[in-house]
Amino acid sequence: MGKPDDIQQSEKQTEAIRFIQHTSDHSLLLQCLIKIQEAYLHIPADTVELLQQQLGLSYADITVVVEFYSFLSFEKSGDYQILISNNITDQFLGNQTLFKKLNSRLADVNVSIEYTSCTGLCDQGPAILVNGWAINRVDDERIEHIAELIEQRLPVDQWPSHFFEKEDNILRRDIQLSVECQPGAAIKTAIQQGREQSLETLEAAGLKGRGGAGFSTASKWRFCAQTEAGQRYVVCNADEGEPGTFKDRVLLNQYAHDVFEGMTVCAAVIGATRGLVYLRGEYRYLLPQLHQVLQQRRDDGLLGAHILGEDLAFDIDIHLGAGAYICGEESALIESLEGKRGIPRIRPPFPVVSGYLGQPTVVNNVESFWSVSRIMLLGADWFAGVGTDASKGTRLLSISGDCRDPGIYEFPFGVTVTEILAACGGEQTQAIQMAGAAGTTVLARDFERRMCHEDLATGGSFMVIGRQRNLLDMLANFSNFFTHESCGFCTPCRVGTQLIDDIICCFKQGQGSTSELQQLNDIAKLMQQNSFCGLGSSAPTAFLNALQQSPELFSAHGPLDDNPQFDLTAAVAEYEQLVATLSGDLR
Ligand SMILES: Cc1cc2nc3c(=O)[nH]c(=O)nc-3n(C[C@H](O)[C@H](O)[C@H](O)COP(=O)(O)O)c2cc1C
Ligand code: SF4
Repeated sequence: MGKPDDIQQSEKQTEAIRFIQHTSDHSLLLQCLIKIQEAYLHIPADTVELLQQQLGLSYADITVVVEFYSFLSFEKSGDYQILISNNITDQFLGNQTLFKKLNSRLADVNVSIEYTSCTGLCDQGPAILVNGWAINRVDDERIEHIAELIEQRLPVDQWPSHFFEKEDNILRRDIQLSVECQPGAAIKTAIQQGREQSLETLEAAGLKGRGGAGFSTASKWRFCAQTEAGQRYVVCNADEGEPGTFKDRVLLNQYAHDVFEGMTVCAAVIGATRGLVYLRGEYRYLLPQLHQVLQQRRDDGLLGAHILGEDLAFDIDIHLGAGAYICGEESALIESLEGKRGIPRIRPPFPVVSGYLGQPTVVNNVESFWSVSRIMLLGADWFAGVGTDASKGTRLLSISGDCRDPGIYEFPFGVTVTEILAACGGEQTQAIQMAGAAGTTVLARDFERRMCHEDLATGGSFMVIGRQRNLLDMLANFSNFFTHESCGFCTPCRVGTQLIDDIICCFKQGQGSTSELQQLNDIAKLMQQNSFCGLGSSAPTAFLNALQQSPELFSAHGPLDDNPQFDLTAAVAEYEQLVATLSGDLR
């Protein structure tokens, strides 16, 4: 008889194979691969053959997808695969020491231990994923316990449940978090108001998308509703990959009804019958409870053929991501929902015209849908009564880093950085990083700046950097992140992120030269202007901020005037030449 692990594994394998045998829709390729990876801890060759037969895809169609996503692999790297979250705030919490301790404690076991991008547990780090399952606050005691479970070869889904408990840490409630919504109430209002009046309510509320770009939600829905189509789709972007952001995790954990309610209101307004949630793979532990909420809503007549007994049909599926930050970008997300690599699409056409399966699609952030459920209930004036002229209402901030109370805070737009720091206990702060790695670095002298679209826009991440930190470590973490997460499709970003990483590395080693500072500036600007999507154009922001606001950061780590060991001049010249040649084709 096999060991408990073998038995469990084979049950999962049978389940995965059965799933594939009942699938013929090639847009489910990624979801099939995720199931295989979970069951076998890699993608075996015979499962690829089976996928080819079932989905009518070529070997190449499948391999490019496996190679694109960091949570999929043709090679089995160990019986247990441990990924250590590597956001800069995880570094503050000692993830590098954790890496060493895990390696030394598990040296004799068949385990792979690597880093991964931010896992969305920055308020309770350092965090790890074991075979895809997230564990928070990993200290010495937890390491020992994990090592024992691994030595016993106990399958991860049989580990004590307390290992997988997460904290929501909601520490400040304003007008939105103080409201309890009755499931179905917002849908009822939307049905009573009708399409046009519902859009007017949202318009008057001034709701702008909470995923980062800040586009008017009402306008997006109106464009989609106006596009001729046989089918329209509602997509909830729960990819939440921006380092330091974790508010969508908390909303999905505590307020899933309200998020699904907002999606259903959207369906009623735009005339969609199908919705999809794209949930980042790191949050797969939320899947069972999200399915439960969906079933509850079907049982209560809030999803299905006749919602609230009306002529409104809508249902929601959940798709998992597989470790690719770029899949948060809406067109890459749609590609991924279709089972492909997450390579951004050429726009226009925008998703509201041609999105999922080529049909008009609204893509909104989790928090945007959640706010819709409240606005429909409490009205536009209630929402627009707080905030600033161009930024109405409140928004959720995920606060992490060097502060007393990391967690979720709801603030009205217009709040200053000083006020936010006072609320979360950020003392002795040298800088904050607003909106994640792609966002803005704000130094202490600018702490009177305000969170709002007119000043400091944000997708919800607020990382506090104490005076004891070296900002160069933060830049090195970001440059490493972008090098890893660039999808590689366009040269300005694929090569530019690597060159920036090389330059930051030189300075970290005290080897930077004056010419590299100029090169950093040039590369960053070329990337901003020529990258194909928002990842490449926003990735250089933190480096440009540092060059403009704190050049001493670099001079303290160099500059050496002549440094042949790290001479990147030829590589940068080649890059500039390439970008100049290609940029015409890329635009
Ligand atoms: C590289 C990149 C990553 C993104 N990641 C996310 C994400 O994780 N969640 C999100 O809602 N929007 C993300 N966005 C923004 C989306 O493209 C899109 O604007 C958003 O989902 C629209 O929803 P909203 O209007 O409600 O903000 C990302 C954009 C870029 C360029
Ligand atoms: S900018 Fe280019 S390489 Fe970078 S993520 Fe976007 S499409 Fe991919």
